Amino acid sequence: MKTHLFFYTGTGNSLWAARVMADELGNAEISPVPRDTVNPVRIEADVAGIVFPVHIWGLPQPVINFVKALAVDASRYYFALAVNAGQVAATLLQLDRLMISRGLYLSSGFDIVMPSNYIPWGGPGPGDKRMKRINEAREKIKRISSIIAGRQKDPVEKGPIWQNILFSWFYSLSFSHVPTLDKNFWVDDKCSSCNICSKICPCGNIDMRAGKPAWLHKCEQCLACIQWCPEEAIQYGKKTPRYERYHHPEVNLMDIIAASRGNADGANHKRA
Ligand SMILES: Cc1cc2nc3c(=O)[nH]c(=O)nc-3n(C[C@H](O)[C@H](O)[C@H](O)COP(=O)(O)O)c2cc1C
Ligand code: SF4
Ligand code: SF4
Repeated sequence: MKTHLFFYTGTGNSLWAARVMADELGNAEISPVPRDTVNPVRIEADVAGIVFPVHIWGLPQPVINFVKALAVDASRYYFALAVNAGQVAATLLQLDRLMISRGLYLSSGFDIVMPSNYIPWGGPGPGDKRMKRINEAREKIKRISSIIAGRQKDPVEKGPIWQNILFSWFYSLSFSHVPTLDKNFWVDDKCSSCNICSKICPCGNIDMRAGKPAWLHKCEQCLACIQWCPEEAIQYGKKTPRYERYHHPEVNLMDIIAASRGNADGANHKRA
């Protein structure tokens, strides 16, 4: 059985989850979600997985674009890992509906809880709690890999009903504002003009002007720029100067830059 895992990520949690799943399944290829969604994405593997962070209790735009670009082929087994910080809400139901609207079928979908990268609300929490989440996520991925290897159909995981109703409403209210939320970013005087933020942005939303980043209001809110800036010079609103930065401990800057370019350096690879 051959598996192709497609991932989207800001701080590496989803890339790591895809890697753990690939290692469990064997004979798996991992690629960033293609950014070119003009041409249909044809999947050759028997099994296709979509691994992505939950954003504002729903699907991030690049994941929606990817699903809309998938060539209609009901013969594959599709599954998803919704990587989140404890509130998956109705994200996998949204994905299920989106796939049905495309003539595709999501056979299984899992809630994978990892440390939070949503720095506007605070840091990732104490190191021991973070490691506990990562270890529990690893165990869960190992457990569910047998469901995927057996191509079993399983209802997608979801949050409590109140969360699904209320937070899906928040999602629908906020979704169209995401591209301009970058107006809250600013850069402090620790900036060394290294250009990493511009290179890491998956959607070319950061221009360097006089050696400092300028955000262009087509942001995906992946938070890679603020979390990976080596000087911690990027801020969001008033509180982030005192919040700890986060990225997954087993994912490095080059992995994320490669992923943001959708190319084969590091992030796009086969796992035997
Ligand atoms: C804009 C944004 C919105 C988020 N919304 C949610 C959410 O609704 N529920 C949740 O549990 N986590 C939420 N998170 C946290 C991420 O889903 C979580 O930290 C995830 O593991 C990050 O994955 P990544 O490292 O692959 O980007 C949000 C993060 C961002 C950046
Ligand atoms: S990554 Fe940080 S230090 Fe480097 S240019 Fe961007 S803001 Fe400045
Ligand atoms: S500007 Fe920052 S938060 Fe927005 S898409 Fe680019 S890297 Fe992600």
